Amino acid sequence: MSGGFALGREISPAEQPACLDALERAIRARTDLRPRVGLVLGSGLGGPADALDLEVAIPFGELPGWPPATAPGHAGRLLFGRLSGVPAVVQQGRFHLYEGHAAGFVAQPVLLMGRLGAEIIVLTNAAGGVNPNYRAGALMVIADHLNLAGRHPLIGPNAPDLGPRFPDMTGVWDAELRRRLHEAAAVEGIHLEEGVYACLTGPSYETPAEVRMLRGLGVDAVGMSTALEAIAAHWAGTRVCGVSLVTNPAAGLSGAQLSHAEVLVAAEAAGPQLARVIARFVADL
Ligand code: HPA
Repeated sequence: MSGGFALGREISPAEQPACLDALERAIRARTDLRPRVGLVLGSGLGGPADALDLEVAIPFGELPGWPPATAPGHAGRLLFGRLSGVPAVVQQGRFHLYEGHAAGFVAQPVLLMGRLGAEIIVLTNAAGGVNPNYRAGALMVIADHLNLAGRHPLIGPNAPDLGPRFPDMTGVWDAELRRRLHEAAAVEGIHLEEGVYACLTGPSYETPAEVRMLRGLGVDAVGMSTALEAIAAHWAGTRVCGVSLVTNPAAGLSGAQLSHAEVLVAAEAAGPQLARVIARFVADL
């Protein structure tokens, strides 16, 4: 355990400001870059990090209360630099519930990005395609989400200076930013779907029956991340948008078995397209 990190210990909203103070101090000792945009990269989605004009890379383990990332395909660093000329912070590797992390901890990086100055958070993930029309490699703008993780990052005493006790979620996925994502993709000649993302805890992939249930609930893509970060960032007043990279038809839709190795291969194959969309989106902010 590094820096007092305790796996799975719940972090209430009221505890976040002190955590963010310590994180901000540690980061300000290394860079005074003030990001306008924060980017969270999903499994195998390294492209936007490569496109970053890097100033400083801080391994998670060097930040107070943060552990080194463990999931394969997740590098575990916070990158500071310029993306398309815009000051940006990039979370290369995220914290997942399935690793044993608490919901409040999963959401802490996006709160940190807001604290450092980011006005916009872009969340990315690898996801299974529940919509039968999605092929592997499809990119989906997240229009809305279902938090089916049974966990929530805002449980416990609130921090009213950060956000309200009962935050509205009507506009969590910012309509204007979604429009801009589509515009950026059109400029790049890339097609974007738009749909509903469901977050489950994992780490198992879904059963075919679960996928049929999700489709019945109006879900288009399913994964193990993103929703908690979106909730927390929106709560704290940061604008949120996101894109899922569909790496595979969800369980039961193709007859094939799912493997993380194949998810990473598919993410790496389609990742450059997502990186282009994001670079253009940021350039036009
Ligand atoms: N289900 C959940 N998460 C995923 C999937 C999936 O099929 N593919 C990539 N991440």
